[in-house]
Amino acid sequence: MKAGLYYLCLILLLVNISGGLYAAEPLSKQEEKKIRSLISKMSLEEKVSLLHGNSKFYVEAIPRLGIPELALSDGPHGVRAEINRDNWNYAGWTNDSSTYFPTGTALAASWNPELARLRGEVLGEEARYRGKDILLGPGVNIIRSPLCGRNFEYMSEDPYLVAQMTTAYIQGLQSRDVAACVKHYIANNQETDRATVDVNMSDRALHEIYLPAFKAAVQEAGTYSIMTAYNKFRGFWCAENPYLLDSLMRRELGFEGIFVSDWNGTHSTLSSAKAGLDLEMGTDKPYNEYYFAQPLIDAVRNGELPGSLIDQKVAGVLRLMMKLKIFDPTKRFVGSMNTPEHQQATYRSAAESIVLLKNENNILPLDPAHVKSLAVIGDNATRKQSFGGQSSEIKALYEVTPLEGLKNRAEAQFEIRFAQGYQKSRQASNKPDWELINEAAALAAQCDVAVVMAGLNHDYDTESRDKPDLVLPYGQLELIRAVSKANPKTIVVIIAGSAVDMAGFNYRVPGLLWAWYNGMEGGNALADVLLGKVNPSGKMPFSLPVCLDQSNAHALGEFPGRDQQVDYFDDIFVGYRWFDTYDIAPLYPFGHGLSYTRFEYSELSVDKEEWNMDEKLRLSMVLSNTGRCDGAEVVQLYVSDPESELPRPQKELKAFQKVFLKAGERRELVFELALSDLAYYNDSKKEWLLEPGAIKCLLGSSSRDIRQEITIKVN
Ligand code: BGC
Repeated sequence: MKAGLYYLCLILLLVNISGGLYAAEPLSKQEEKKIRSLISKMSLEEKVSLLHGNSKFYVEAIPRLGIPELALSDGPHGVRAEINRDNWNYAGWTNDSSTYFPTGTALAASWNPELARLRGEVLGEEARYRGKDILLGPGVNIIRSPLCGRNFEYMSEDPYLVAQMTTAYIQGLQSRDVAACVKHYIANNQETDRATVDVNMSDRALHEIYLPAFKAAVQEAGTYSIMTAYNKFRGFWCAENPYLLDSLMRRELGFEGIFVSDWNGTHSTLSSAKAGLDLEMGTDKPYNEYYFAQPLIDAVRNGELPGSLIDQKVAGVLRLMMKLKIFDPTKRFVGSMNTPEHQQATYRSAAESIVLLKNENNILPLDPAHVKSLAVIGDNATRKQSFGGQSSEIKALYEVTPLEGLKNRAEAQFEIRFAQGYQKSRQASNKPDWELINEAAALAAQCDVAVVMAGLNHDYDTESRDKPDLVLPYGQLELIRAVSKANPKTIVVIIAGSAVDMAGFNYRVPGLLWAWYNGMEGGNALADVLLGKVNPSGKMPFSLPVCLDQSNAHALGEFPGRDQQVDYFDDIFVGYRWFDTYDIAPLYPFGHGLSYTRFEYSELSVDKEEWNMDEKLRLSMVLSNTGRCDGAEVVQLYVSDPESELPRPQKELKAFQKVFLKAGERRELVFELALSDLAYYNDSKKEWLLEPGAIKCLLGSSSRDIRQEITIKVN
């Protein structure tokens, strides 16, 4: 225990409440007056019509009061194609193909919040063009288990990284007069039993790990809405959870927007209404029979609910409309669709997300002086991934596959030949197809270099289902082994949104890249990385375990629980917090990603050695690109507090900067962080605390590649 037992604990709770910057501007007095006036003119039926869907993605208009219908749409990485009003089939429009961005984990792998903001802006522009008011995203649940089917839609195992991306994304989106609906609040960290499971976790895990992205969405980005999760949290459905909705989000964190249920995720009228749910969505026909329709009217008429509660919820919906300038359409953002700028934004995001995991003997980038022929192998070389994964699927205007990307960029330089290698089967299968494998190995033997486009697809990375295990399906392990035996110059490109088992082939191949479901320009971006036109700068946003049993939810916690209950015994030790604290070596650590150039870290310094709690810590260092090509490095700042009263993870990410440097260039980087951001949540005291004593600041190129270290003293 630090500094003897004398506690000079700083109670940071207040700082946390008041310190946040409320990006959501309050409405003017006139606007509030208009809202009151509209409500005063509404019948109870009209009011309640604003609190539930009247079709899959719309809320009814009240034309006599000039209130248009409210249009909602999925999803996090593109505006979803139009769905029929009364069923889940697509409407078959011919003008709803849209821009398709890299999915959530890919965005996080760029470690570039500027790209998150740009994505928000583009999605906002496309949503506006399509007449949408609320976009159902971003998805910000924490990657707790590598098996969660929706990991590809979410972002990271690290709450700080998710919070940074979330904030920028929402700010971008809402700047285009489209509301974000940050989801799924909270703990939808698995798809198995997602609609029934009861999640239990400590207050500390909630505050330190699972809540920060939602908190940032509210306090830093001013999100206009939040989607409640399907699951229960500590015995209560999230959509009717008084602690989550009222105490924590509204009172403690100051959320002023609306709570929207996940689709068909409402379970009651009275409890949901009292807890704070505002809008019930996702029901079926007849819409007026669901919880927030006729039963809500009846509850007011019977005196079970006060009319003022309904007015409060209606005011919330109208405020959201007001913020989107729905009542002042001439001032509202008009929007655009499928512009070259939008496509360029997806390219940038894709190019910056690709992670170079391994590059022995500088096998990459491919050197046309020595490489004349290329064997491109694997189903993922030709598979389009946009239209998959369920609610986040996108009807992309186009999608460049990896093989097309290589042909676009390099057909003149190399002979490019393709072999199928493995086949996506109808059912989940691990059976190798030896005929395809032998054909691929024979092709690999005839070419200078083989590139296996391996990984998963949206049969695995998908909503509604978790992955059965980490195994690369369809016999891909056998394929990679055979190809690398036939040609030792084999590069494996993993196309997947969440971890897969790579221990069985990692040591056999000199080159390994992670290329995600990388949006409509993904194939071009991948080709540019393989050819060295783009220097890879992505970093893994989650740890890659050697095997499943290594990772926290499986080794320490529970996944997916038993008897419809899951206890997060892994607590705050999620991802690298678990691997590092318990000294377990993953295959590739959180934050890892190589470059074609070299970066040196030097001259780490702080202005002074002793710091007071109310101060901002200022660290500076010099980053130099000492290699031969331009490139970007993500400098990661972790802190370590080895002597706190409660055990803390060995290190926690507290800041990062993505820095582009020309070859030979050096730059001084300054990191400023409030001491209060170094606190931990002490759940017995229900306070954010930082005790006096030593804190280590670690600057690294990954969570396990720390280049500079300095110890400061906190008074
Ligand atoms: C998903 C949400 C999605 C909604 C509407 C639900 O099944 O959990 O993320 O936004 O459907 O499609």
